[in-house]
Amino acid sequence: MGNRLQSPSPPSRGPNGSARTIQSSLVVVGAGYVGLVTSACLAHLGHRVRLVDIDSERITSLRAGVTPIAEPGLDTLIHLGVKSGRLSFDDHPRVALHSADMVFIAVGTLDANGRWTDTNVRSALESVLACESVPPLIVIRSTVRPGTMVGLRELVAATARPVNLLLNPEFTREGTAVADFLSPTRIVVGVASGDPPDTADPIRRLYAAIDAPFLVVDHSSAELIKIGSNAFLAAKITFANELARLCLATGADMSTVRYGIGIDPRIGPQFLRTGPGFGGSCLPSQVELLSAMSKELDLGLELIEAIVRSNREQPRRLVRELLASLPTPRRVAVLGLAFKANTDDTRESPSLRFIDALSDAGVGEIQAFDPQVRRLSTHPGVHLFPDAYAAASDADILVIATEWPQFRSLDWGRLAHVMCGREVFDARSIVAADEASAYGFRVRSLERRSAQRPEQPGVAAVQDRRLEPGPRSVAAGPMGSALAGQWRPAP
Ligand code: UGA
Repeated sequence: MGNRLQSPSPPSRGPNGSARTIQSSLVVVGAGYVGLVTSACLAHLGHRVRLVDIDSERITSLRAGVTPIAEPGLDTLIHLGVKSGRLSFDDHPRVALHSADMVFIAVGTLDANGRWTDTNVRSALESVLACESVPPLIVIRSTVRPGTMVGLRELVAATARPVNLLLNPEFTREGTAVADFLSPTRIVVGVASGDPPDTADPIRRLYAAIDAPFLVVDHSSAELIKIGSNAFLAAKITFANELARLCLATGADMSTVRYGIGIDPRIGPQFLRTGPGFGGSCLPSQVELLSAMSKELDLGLELIEAIVRSNREQPRRLVRELLASLPTPRRVAVLGLAFKANTDDTRESPSLRFIDALSDAGVGEIQAFDPQVRRLSTHPGVHLFPDAYAAASDADILVIATEWPQFRSLDWGRLAHVMCGREVFDARSIVAADEASAYGFRVRSLERRSAQRPEQPGVAAVQDRRLEPGPRSVAAGPMGSALAGQWRPAP
C-alpha cells in the first residue's frame, strides 16, 4: 500500500461534490444482475450509459424492452433511461468507447459450477484495452477474489496505456437492489497502491447526487471490505440460527432475545432472522472462498470455516429434527423456492437444500409453490403448482421455506380442507401460529416447538417497537400472548 493510502480518506457526508450532477458518459460491460442495476441507476442519476454484453440475444431483447431479471423498480428505470436517450445497448464496447469518460466492468466471477474465476473479468478488460480509444478510467464493479486487482493492474501496465484502474464494489441486495444503489450505506472506491486518493474523483462526481459516506482505500482493502461485509452478515445469520437452538433448549423466546440483543447499537437488529441458512449467489460463495483461502494460506480462520460448516448442515439438521418425531411423510408441500423473498433466484437456495434433505430422508413426493419461480430445472422430481393451496393438496406436512409476505396470511381453513396432515414447519418463523392452530394445525419453527407449548416467560411489555423484529408481548391478553408463538414485524 502506498504512503498516501495508509488510511482511508475520511468519510464525507454527501452529497458527494457539487449538488448538481455533472453528466458523465460511461460504458458498462456486462448486462448481468450487477451491470443492469448499475447502468439503469446511473442513467437515472443523469449520466449517459451504454450497456455492452457479448450475449447479443440479451442485447436484442433489452432493445426490444424486455428486462431479463426480476428486480423491483429495475424495469421502470430501464424504460425511463431508454426513453430519455441516456441508456442504450451494444454488443461490443468498441462501438461506444471513443466518447466515454470511463468504463465499468460488471461481469460474472463465478463459473457454471459456482467456482471462482477471473477469466471473464480479464477477458472483458483485455477487450477494452484492445480497443483503439480507451477512456482514462476503468472501474471494476464485479466482486473479485481478494488478490485479483494485483493481476488486473499488471495487465493494464503491460499495455502501457494511460489508464487508472479502480475497484468500486457494490453492496446491493437482490430484491432491493435499485433502492440500495440509490441510497447506499457507503460508496467504496479502491485505487491502486501509490496512486493518490484524488484518482477516485471522477467516481465521486459520478455519485454526486447520492448522500453517503465516500471511502477511498487501496485495491486490496476494497476487495476485503466487499467480501468481509458479506462474511460478517453470514456470521450474524449463523449465530442467530445457533442462538435459536439454545433458546429452544432452555425455554427462552428467540424473538424476545433477538430484540434484547439487537437493541444494542454495537450489535444491531438486522440479519438476526432465523431460517434454513443463508443462500443466494453471494453470501455462500464468498464465505466459502474465505474458508478456502484460510486453508490454502494456512491462516486458521476457524470462525469462517465454522460458518460454512454450520450453514451447510442447517437444512439437514432441520429435516432430521422435523422427521424425528413423525412417521416418514408420503408427501410434503414446500412453500417458497427462491433463496429469499422478492426474487426468482434459486441459486444456492436453502429451500432447495431442504428439499434435497427431505428426498434423502425418503420423502416420496414434494409439491412446491413459489410466487416467482415457475421452473426448476435443477430438481425435476419436484412438482410445481400455481398456488399454495394446490401445492398443499393431500400433503402430510406443509413447510414454509421462503419468507414471502403472502405466506404470513395463509387461509388455514382452506389448507385444512385440502391437506391430509396437520403438521406445519415454519422454517422462517412468519406464520400466525394461533390462526393455524385454530384449524387443528401443529406449527413448529426454529423459534418455538409448537403453537400449543406452554407459555414461556418473556418481556412484560415493550413499548419501543421500532426495531424489527419486535418481541412477543405477554401483556397483550390471553389470546395475544406468547402462547401463539407469533412473529410479527414491527409496524
Ligand atoms: C448480499 C448482501 O446482503 C449485499 O449487501 C451484497 O451486496 C450482496 O450479497 C452481494 O454480494 O452482491 P443478497 O445475496 O441479495 O445480498 O441477499 P441477502 O439479503 O444478504 O440474504 C442472503 C441470505 O441470507 C438469504 O438466503 C436470506 O434469506 C438469508 N437471511 C438474511 C437470513 O437467513 N436471515 C437474515 O436475518 C437475513
